[in-house]
Amino acid sequence: MISERHAPLGLALVFAFTVFLLALFTVHNNAFREVSAITAKEEFRFLKNDILEHVRNSTLGFQEILVLNLPKRTDRKDAMILAAVHTNIKPKWIDGVDGNDVLDLTLPLRPHQSPPSRASKGSWRAHLNALRSVVENDISSVLILEDDLDWDIHLKDQLFNFSLACRTLIQPLLPGPHDNETQIVPLYIEQTYPPPRTDQHNYGLPLEARYPTIPPHTSPYGDTWDVLWLGHCGMLMPSAFTPGHSSMRIRYTDTTVPARSNLDTNRSGSELIDAYPDHTRVVHHAFIPVCSLAYAVSQRGARRILYELSVRNYTSEYDNMLRELCDGEEMREGKLVCLTAQPAYFSHWRERGWRGKDSDIDVVGDDDEWREEGRSVNIRWSVRRNMGVFHEGEAVAWVDQWPD
Ligand SMILES: *[C@@H]1O[C@H](CO)[C@@H](O)[C@H](O)[C@H]1NC(C)=O
Ligand SMILES: *[C@@H]1O[C@H](CO)[C@@H](O)[C@H](O)[C@H]1NC(C)=O
Ligand SMILES: *[C@@H]1O[C@H](CO)[C@@H](O)[C@H](O)[C@H]1NC(C)=O
Ligand SMILES: *[C@@H]1O[C@H](CO)[C@@H](O)[C@H](O)[C@H]1NC(C)=O
Ligand SMILES: *[C@@H]1O[C@H](CO)[C@@H](O)[C@H](O)[C@H]1NC(C)=O
Repeated sequence: MISERHAPLGLALVFAFTVFLLALFTVHNNAFREVSAITAKEEFRFLKNDILEHVRNSTLGFQEILVLNLPKRTDRKDAMILAAVHTNIKPKWIDGVDGNDVLDLTLPLRPHQSPPSRASKGSWRAHLNALRSVVENDISSVLILEDDLDWDIHLKDQLFNFSLACRTLIQPLLPGPHDNETQIVPLYIEQTYPPPRTDQHNYGLPLEARYPTIPPHTSPYGDTWDVLWLGHCGMLMPSAFTPGHSSMRIRYTDTTVPARSNLDTNRSGSELIDAYPDHTRVVHHAFIPVCSLAYAVSQRGARRILYELSVRNYTSEYDNMLRELCDGEEMREGKLVCLTAQPAYFSHWRERGWRGKDSDIDVVGDDDEWREEGRSVNIRWSVRRNMGVFHEGEAVAWVDQWPD
């Protein structure tokens, strides 16, 4: 029995190795394929009618922005609406769900699986209600936000670079002048960028040196993504040794990123601090993300998530189920294309006042701690922190939460 299994395994290994060698050969052959001959000027010729600028529209280049909010958390809705108008964003609202209103029989549980907690069910249902409306109304892409977030007042400039980086990761490259124009085989950055040697650290490609790509048609961030994980509490960067993940990264200096000594990477590993200079943003494929604070979903992504999490399996907290899909875990059918940035663009806003406010469950106990000043991690020119400054007019200096 066992030896019968070994023979095909051996063959498979030989085959895999041959494919690997062939791939290596192709990569090296293609590495100097005329991609570098295309100038930025050429790229901009293509960009003329590009939807790139849509990143700066009132829905950040998505068709809609949806904020999940329990109607009784009026405090959060008030503050989010102010933050949104100050940064010229127009969100719509989806009611949060109290887990007590979710029938256990609506969850796709395994036999004998015990029903999840009230908080877990409520969050699952609220996110799925948002995704269901995306599927039902054939929305091309949506950005889903929790209602206690903070972001930088430069968000639109930040997302501009993010969209260029995403395109570099997932769009086909522009054909070079010597390519056979009657039959263009799409090539991706991965196939032309020399893979790092095993003794090298994979820092990724600088954004300034990106290869020009074919402009996308459906979204300014590219045509083939499922999830853009813009707000998380932590995330790892896949390396050349991470199975099933592309290890391609795009890096650039973004002055809105706090210096390394001010960065919070508690749930991300320390790679951003150890391996990159101050004020570096790295865009890459998602790997072990934590917290679904803010994430964009394409129509294709919304259908797949709704199917997996409402029809197929309820395994744990919503953010962890989304992670299973991005990481392509075994119990899921296939893997989503999920891109992200480190540090994230959205972060939890910890409100001034009793710490109990951080949760939707109304308990403010005796030993509950009072927070003197609101704060968020990894956001410098915080829209929340600057809320008062907006009312004072433009002459006033913005507050930098994490100055160098
Ligand atoms: C913003 O751009 C996206 C992508 O092109 C588009 O779907 C959306 O309708 C635009 N939003 C507004 C308010 O124009
Ligand atoms: C380009 O590709 C087509 C289709 O494979 C082929 O028929 C043609 O001969 C090629 N032209 C050149 C110049 O290689
Ligand atoms: C955008 O990227 C360029 C490098 O291509 C960099 O010079 C610029 O500072 C970046 N801006 C932001 C806001 O990330
Ligand atoms: C992250 O870790 C540092 C050092 O252990 C700690 O001081 C800081 O409070 C942590 N940040 C968060 C948000 O937990
Ligand atoms: C997931 O759902 C499928 C189809 O309903 C089922 O066959 C499978 O056992 C489930 N797996 C887990 C881990 O729940």
